[in-house]
Amino acid sequence: MKVLVIGPGGREHAIVRSLLADPAVSEVHAAPGNAGIAQVVPTHAIDANSPEAVTALAQKLGVDLVVVGPEAPLAAGVSDAVREAGIPVFGPSRAAAQLEASKAFAKQVMAEAGVPTAMARVAGTAEEAADALDAFGAPYVVKDDGLAAGKGVVVTSDRDAALAHAQACFDAGGTVVIEEFLDGPEVSLFVLSDGRNVVPLAPAQDFKRIFDNDEGPNTGGMGAYTPLEWAPETLVAEVVERVAQPTIDEMAKRGTPFVGVLYCGLALTSRGTRVIEFNARFGDPETQAVLARLRTPLGSLLLAASTGGLDRVEKLRWTPETAVAVVLASEHYPDTPRTGDRIRGLKKAAAVEGVHVLHAGTKLGEDGKVVSAGGRVLAVVALGEDLTQARERAYEGMGEIGLDGGQYRRDIAAKAARGDVRVPAPSGRRAARVAGAE
Ligand code: AMP
Ligand code: GLY
Repeated sequence: MKVLVIGPGGREHAIVRSLLADPAVSEVHAAPGNAGIAQVVPTHAIDANSPEAVTALAQKLGVDLVVVGPEAPLAAGVSDAVREAGIPVFGPSRAAAQLEASKAFAKQVMAEAGVPTAMARVAGTAEEAADALDAFGAPYVVKDDGLAAGKGVVVTSDRDAALAHAQACFDAGGTVVIEEFLDGPEVSLFVLSDGRNVVPLAPAQDFKRIFDNDEGPNTGGMGAYTPLEWAPETLVAEVVERVAQPTIDEMAKRGTPFVGVLYCGLALTSRGTRVIEFNARFGDPETQAVLARLRTPLGSLLLAASTGGLDRVEKLRWTPETAVAVVLASEHYPDTPRTGDRIRGLKKAAAVEGVHVLHAGTKLGEDGKVVSAGGRVLAVVALGEDLTQARERAYEGMGEIGLDGGQYRRDIAAKAARGDVRVPAPSGRRAARVAGAE
């Protein structure tokens, strides 16, 4: 099988790496890729957001499957065009990708399908925004209703800051979704779907803020680990039953079946599991950690999802090891990342036991050396016997890498390794009963 992977980031490098490990995959191509991807497969410098350009490349290469990584090509209709040309594609249609592209649409689908999520209101004016903020109270959650690469959300106890974010979105011609605050740890669960059947991967946790202790602004994601030892054993089954399957069924009922990966961003709150958001693609950097553990051949799995055959795939196999991914970002990320700096020590990092390096924003400089080319530059991924070992290995690998101004979090998976991640105790009557019994 020949596969074309669309996208430039660390997630795509992880997908390419896993595809290369699938004996059924004879050839992998990527567009546009990055310097790390270009070291392992042929890359093609096309506009990956252009449905025509991607379809033409897929036809020229004669691929059997196209895998679309990021949200932008999905929202631009790349999957629709490739599917129309008769080539299997892993990635939802533009209509189905609305689950990510519009938060208001996602809320409608969840309401229709009975999926538990935060209470929310759409606001289009400063007055409506103020009303909604006061209705829910602090902490305030204000979301830009559009694609913002995970950066359009402000969570704050400062009412003026919440209003200012809403105003900025209105000024840009948009609307906002204002929500109740969800307490409790976050989980990313990726669920593959062929439009009808669903297959969940292993849950992961992502670290969205730029600084240690979850401080500073939101980013695309600064690190991840999997599996989650602290999560209830029933979590995956519960999310499939109450979230993923009802959503997939609802999308099919609407005549816009969802084919690809439904990324369920969840909060495990005192009132139960709630959806924070859906994405229509794999998460980055969670994918770097999740795929490091997957032993089922990826190409055959994604082809089955793309061709309506997920009910026939074997039970997924995983290494029992734990995976930790730590992201190295450029100076001044997430605002105005500095680029063009030489990256050193890549080979030394990859030589650490259990470690591999996945590139994100990298390219080859004029002298053929790898330089930074984006906000998130790369991820050091480590497998280990447990979280402690995987963390040690990932940070040892990171210690070998040099990038002027580079920044990374020191506390990826640290709380979980200490056993300090907890789902809040149930609130309300049940909690009162438990308290009364003590
Ligand atoms: P989103 O783009 O919807 O994933 O939001 C980005 C991040 O903002 C999430 O990963 C959460 O950390 C935070 N967030 C979003 N919605 C809520 C909410 N209702 N309550 C608490 N935190 C939230
Ligand atoms: N890691 C968060 C995301 O991919 O949106």
